[in-house]
Amino acid sequence: MHALAKRFFAHHPALSLAALGAAQNATELNLCPAGVPVEFLPAEEHNSLSRQYLELNQLAFGKLGLPNWVLSDLYLQPGAIGLLRCPARMLSEPSRQRLSLPDEERVIAAAYYAAPTVHRGHFIGVSLLSFLPGVQAGAWVKALTLKMLGARRMRGIAQWNNLSLRVHTRLGPMRLVGHVPGVHDYVERSFLYEMDLTDEAREVAAMERRLLFQPTRRVSATDSPALGSLLRRAEAGETLYLIPPGLDGGDILVHEGPLPAGDGGA
Ligand SMILES: CC(C)(COP(=O)(O)OP(=O)(O)OC[C@H]1O[C@@H](n2cnc3c(N)ncnc32)[C@H](O)[C@@H]1OP(=O)(O)O)[C@@H](O)C(=O)NCCC(=O)NCCS
Repeated sequence: MHALAKRFFAHHPALSLAALGAAQNATELNLCPAGVPVEFLPAEEHNSLSRQYLELNQLAFGKLGLPNWVLSDLYLQPGAIGLLRCPARMLSEPSRQRLSLPDEERVIAAAYYAAPTVHRGHFIGVSLLSFLPGVQAGAWVKALTLKMLGARRMRGIAQWNNLSLRVHTRLGPMRLVGHVPGVHDYVERSFLYEMDLTDEAREVAAMERRLLFQPTRRVSATDSPALGSLLRRAEAGETLYLIPPGLDGGDILVHEGPLPAGDGGA
């Protein structure tokens, strides 16, 4: 991953990686994930950056935007948000307008937050956002943040019809776990997935889109009965994957059964 990350930042020299979290968390983080230096920014000293993150999160997620207290209590206190930053002039228009900062000011281009769980080394993906389309900012900030956190496994909740599936699958195949517990706002189109993050070769191949398996089924991202049935099968113990690139022409790409060994034909 080191070589790939080096190439990414060489292609995009205006981008840099940072982390925003409570000062005491810095020592627990890998501040050079895949060889990329992370500037750790203690939340106690960076109130305006916290406000900027809130603004962008609320812009990205609309009615599911982050409440202020959740940022303080459940993001900054237990962990750290991974940030890709760039000069404000590079941001997409809605975010530029929302922040209204000078062109050369260093701002958040993309961000990822994963929360620690009671299982050591396991994280739950909470928020991914990017206002720098077209350079895989979302995939990179997610991959590097998870490395910074030392995550060996992650679970996440995603929506079948969200283009972010193309971002998540840049980290590898997504094993379907089942329906989303609780009363999630988008419960009818959401699912729970899990990813193993310990196979570096696979991760590199996925990031380069060389990790391509043959789907055994394609299911329309709007076919709720068929998607619900997949989740019930996963809950019953069947091994089912959403495979890269995840979403293709409105279809979800599914592999039923264990994946072939090796790098998927890379
Ligand atoms: C989802 C999000 C993070 C992606 O941002 P990003 O990483 O900058 O996205 P990219 O420009 O790299 O595009 C991601 C993928 O979608 C594809 N894509 C983008 N726009 C597309 C379109 N209109 N039609 C088809 N595919 C499209 C890209 O080609 C890319 O796929 P690839 O990696 O296979 O080439 C960003 O759109 C966002 O912040 N959305 C709002 C918040 C959200 O929904 N977060 C996810 C919650 S789980």
